[in-house]
This record gives sequence, C-alpha cells and structure tokens, in this order.
Amino acid sequence: MFAPSVYIERRRRLRSEVGSGLILFLGNEQSPINYRDNQYPFRQDSSFLYFFGLDCPGLAAVIDIDQGAECVFGDDLTVDDIIWTGPQPPLAEKCQEAGISETAGLDKLGLVLERAVGRARQIHILPQYRPENVLKIQQLLAMPPAAIQDHVSESLIKAVVAQRSVKSDDEIAQIESALEMSYAMQTTAMKISKPGVYEREVAAAMEQIVLARAGRLSFPTIFSIHGETLHNHHHGNMMKAGDIAVNDSGAETPLGYASDITRTIPVGGEFSQRQKEIYAIVLEAQNKAIDAAKPDIEFRNVHRLASEVLVSGLKDLGLVKGDAAEAVEAGVHTLFFQCGLGHMMGLDVHDMEGLGEDYVGYTDTIKRNPEFGWRSLRLGKALEPGFVITVEPGIYFIPELIDRWKAEQKNAQYINYDAVEKYSDFGGVRIEDDILVTETGCRILGKPIPRTIDDVEAMSSSA
Ligand code: GLY
Ligand code: MN
Ligand code: MN
Repeated sequence: MFAPSVYIERRRRLRSEVGSGLILFLGNEQSPINYRDNQYPFRQDSSFLYFFGLDCPGLAAVIDIDQGAECVFGDDLTVDDIIWTGPQPPLAEKCQEAGISETAGLDKLGLVLERAVGRARQIHILPQYRPENVLKIQQLLAMPPAAIQDHVSESLIKAVVAQRSVKSDDEIAQIESALEMSYAMQTTAMKISKPGVYEREVAAAMEQIVLARAGRLSFPTIFSIHGETLHNHHHGNMMKAGDIAVNDSGAETPLGYASDITRTIPVGGEFSQRQKEIYAIVLEAQNKAIDAAKPDIEFRNVHRLASEVLVSGLKDLGLVKGDAAEAVEAGVHTLFFQCGLGHMMGLDVHDMEGLGEDYVGYTDTIKRNPEFGWRSLRLGKALEPGFVITVEPGIYFIPELIDRWKAEQKNAQYINYDAVEKYSDFGGVRIEDDILVTETGCRILGKPIPRTIDDVEAMSSSA
C-alpha cells in the first residue's frame, strides 16, 4: 500500500468534489471457477483499491460526506476460516494503513443504508460490473437490478474519473515497475520465438516472468501469428520461419498497476521485405503520434494523424490511392486499422472502463464518433499532464473484411483491391507503448523495449 496520507487525501478530495450525501463503495468478492471453493485469483475493484488500498475480499465502505465519517465494513476471519486460509490481521488494523479508524461488521452495512434511505439521503454508487455486487445493491438499496444503472451517481463517476486520470509520481513509479516486467516479457518472447515453437510456450514463459516477480498478467496475453485478429487469445499454433507474431501483453504490480505493450516479432529473427515495409509504416505512425501527444491536443486528432500516416504509407505501397487526408475522412484507414489508437491506463489496463468509457474518454462536447473504426476509439478528449495512455497503431489484413468491402466496392476510388488482396495472408502488425503526458509533451514510460526493425531483429536473433 501507499502511505495512509495518500488514501486520506484521495478521500478528502472525493468528498469535496461530490459535495453531499453518502458514497457506497463495494469491494470485490472471490470469484468461483466451477464451485465455491475453487476460485480465480482475487482481484480487488480498482476504485476500492484507489481510495482504500485494501486488497482483500468481502469489504464495503461508506463515506458520509455530510458527517465527515468514513467506515469500512467487513468480517474478521473465524477460526474455521483461519484453518483453511491462514491468519490475517484484524480489519481494524488493516484499515489503519488506509487512514481509516472506524470499522464495523458487514451486518451493520444494511442498517446504515436503511437509515439513510429512510431519511431520503442521497446514496452515491458507481456502475457495477460483477453480478454479485449487483445483487448486493439490489438487497441493500431495495432496488431491482435493472434500476441500478439509472441510479448510478454521475457526480461520483466524474469525480472518480477526474482523480484517477491524473497519475501521481507514486503511481507512475508503479506503472514503470510493471513495465520492467514487460521489458523482460517482450525481450524473452523475441528471443524464444523460433520456428517449431508453439505460441503457448511463449505465453507460458511470459506468465512465468510475472509470477516469479510477484506480479500477474494485467490482461489475458495476446500472442499470435494471426495478429490480424485484434484480441486473439488462441495460443495453439506452431510458429514457422517467415511468420510474424503479435505479442500484446502486460503485467500488473502487487499494488494493481498495469503495463500494456505490443511488439511484433519476426519468428526466427528476420522480417521479410514485405513485413519490413508494413512494420515501418506502423512504426512511423506510432512515432508521429507520440511526437504529437501533448497537453490540450484532442486524442481523436492524434488518432486521425496516425491514420493519415498509415494511409500514406499504404499509398506508397500501391494499396491505397488519392489524397491521404480525404481517404481518412472517407474511413479508408478502417479497412486496415479497425480499432482505436489508445486508451488510458493505470489500475486497469483500460483504465476506469468499468465506470463507462465515455466518462473516461469523452466529454459533453467531444462525443464518440459512431462510425466503424472510430467507434472503437476509447479516448477522444484533450490530453492533460499526468495522463498515462497507450499509443498502439497497427495494420491488420482481415480477409473477411477485405472480401466484404471488395464485394461492396466500398471506397473503391481510394482502394486498390487487387493489391490489397495480395496481403490477405499477411496477418497484422501492432506496436504499442505506454506514455505519460507531461507539461510540455510526453515521455515513453519504462526502459526502452526494442522497437525499430534493426533492434527487434537483433533481439530476436540473439540466443
Ligand atoms: N491489450 C489490449 C489493448 O492493447 O488494448
Ligand atoms: Mn495491448
Ligand atoms: Mn492497449
């Protein structure tokens, strides 16, 4: 945990921004795999971690803004529990580390909320993404599950997003510690991705790296020679000479902070000429996007800029024709780059997505564009110092999409379909780094992971 003063100050600011009423936070429960006692590794809710730092299941907290009171609710372990799970410090002792002096058993939570409901006091809640917490709210606030979404507190969401979006030095140090694990994961993957090796062997080697460093994966690893499938979690292919593998993976520190890095690896150590050409375009798009990222620029415009770089590169290869800016305006880039350029990152790899993507990435005036491709851009609003975001352009040749567009002759004035079809077996290239927006620009976080063609080839051909 951070120092108690960190959590005290975060909650003070939250109280002052939300203004009045009660704030109810639900921590997460253990999640069964196939029966109650066989569980997925426990992951605390990120907002609960942010404001209370307590990383154990079965907790809830209430902040009474008007009374200036804060209480964490939870039950201490019984001897029966201790026999199976071992001893734990009492809740009251753990709460001191978060600067909380008031604790109570879970049976008191219902009474506190019932009293508040009886007095028609406002109870602020966040959107819920776990069914067991939906059921708890149903019970605690006597509200049918379908009504919960209408009852979530916009002022609480906005206050949480405003605080969590700007990372402190302590948080940046955590993210850089996750990135140290990413460095080891990515460079190991480059070294062991040889012909005859299965994708799952590389995925396993990367998971071993995080487990051995007291971390865990920040999301299920994407490691695939079919990088054209954006979130490909299948690891069953044996790699061959000439393949390229997209390695989109990340680590999470013991305090819950994420990294999210993608490299595209030539299996056996060398890219073909055709692979180099596509890789160089994606790298240029990433470099231009990183150069452009600074306070006040709207990220949707950085996405547009990266899309234009991708389209002009593809034009040089003869796949696209016409003016690059006009082609992007017409949506031509989305045949090759179907997703967004990046997202916020912090305690969640897609930070705060559970609170509602539009609260995190858009504003009352900067709205998400519903068009194909653009609608997958999670972050469109202006950047601010302290934001940590990913920059992850890519080129993906998806045969089914190419066939569909060709059949419709979609944007045919800009697309040379005969040339594009020759790339149907290409796969995909993605390059992703995590950056911190500073007062004047941005910096790439973490120790540099090989990114240029020469550096990736050198690392991939080393033993
Ligand atoms: N790891 C998924 C992503 O890059 O957003
Ligand atoms: Mn990623
Ligand atoms: Mn990402």
